[in-house]
Amino acid sequence: MSGSSRFIEACWGKAHDVVPVWFMRQAGRYQPAYRQLRERYSFLEMARSEEIITEVTCRPVEELGVDAAILFSDIMMPMGPMGIDFDIEEHKGPVIAHPIRSAQDLKHIKPLRPEENLPEIFRSIEKICRRIDPVPLIGFAGAPFTLASYIIEGGPSRNYQETKKMMWEQPALWDELMMTLADAVLSHLTAQIRHGARAVQIFDSWIGVLSVEDFEHAVLPTMREIFSRLNTFHVPTIYFGTETAALLPLMKETGATVLSIDWRIPVASARRQLGANVAVQGNLDPVLLLSSWEVLAGHARRILDEMAGDPRYIFNLGHGVPPGTEPEHLKRLVDLVHGYALPGEV
Ligand code: CP3
Repeated sequence: MSGSSRFIEACWGKAHDVVPVWFMRQAGRYQPAYRQLRERYSFLEMARSEEIITEVTCRPVEELGVDAAILFSDIMMPMGPMGIDFDIEEHKGPVIAHPIRSAQDLKHIKPLRPEENLPEIFRSIEKICRRIDPVPLIGFAGAPFTLASYIIEGGPSRNYQETKKMMWEQPALWDELMMTLADAVLSHLTAQIRHGARAVQIFDSWIGVLSVEDFEHAVLPTMREIFSRLNTFHVPTIYFGTETAALLPLMKETGATVLSIDWRIPVASARRQLGANVAVQGNLDPVLLLSSWEVLAGHARRILDEMAGDPRYIFNLGHGVPPGTEPEHLKRLVDLVHGYALPGEV
């Protein structure tokens, strides 16, 4: 259950044959087979079905030839059993029935018992790992800040007003919420690793709305604690965020094995800021997937040229695959990355 994998090797900076590649949201609405399932089931029904989780997670590996699978689930799945009711609205995202804004609200949150609360996820993980071996499965969770932003705002937000208000005006309540969410993230990821996930990614999609100072004081201590505990399992740990150009040096202090960056900063400049001893993932603007193949390929090659010979680089997008992407584009992109010859090679 642990065959060699160029993705895992690149996370650790060990020798591997070609640049590894996988895509955030590689399972989703751009796939005709996914859309067919969605005609019959809601997203949440799909994310609670062992059979569908397994099928939808494995297909991109089998159809695109990517170097890792990412569990088909959502950052919100642990929230239900914790007593935070939510729904996922199409084209909108998570919507929370009763937002968490006070000490009283926080008292109602229950600790997560992953295997008991979400058994279908862990049964799926075991099946997926057997089916895709030697390709590894990446487990994941939402980061406390990004989860907090949904449960405090009640849904997606433009300026994160209620979240920042709690962070600034009620620092003790904020710290308690961060700790409560960190416990859930840790127990969920530990269980995923125990059932077979060979790497874990923490999604802090909206962390870029914070100033460097707020990140350092209100979020970094929690993230440092999470990564130092996860790193005891000796599987690569990945920290993802968007609009993080100014935060990268502090994100490195979390101890994550890999930092996943968006497209707003040149990847070579991220590498210069971070130094050589952390892996870097990402960087292609996902909207390029909606462009012509020539334009898409040109940008992909530029990233590969910038990172040529870097043993700690993993090709990915700066955020998720947009619906409307031509599946053939993704397949050609995987082939382009795998077929990329270093300058001077024949
Ligand atoms: O393929 C994969 O990447 C794995 C599956 C995955 C999903 N959500 C499936 C999903 C992962 C890793 C996530 C994480 C997630 N969920 C994040 C962090 C990553 C990111 O995109 O920033 C966030 C912020 C969420 C919350 C969420 N859930 C959003 C913003 C949405 C999209 C709303 C929309 O309709 O565009 C969802 C729903 C969701 N999660 C879909 C999928 C495939 C689309 C649901 C559908 O079929 O309608």
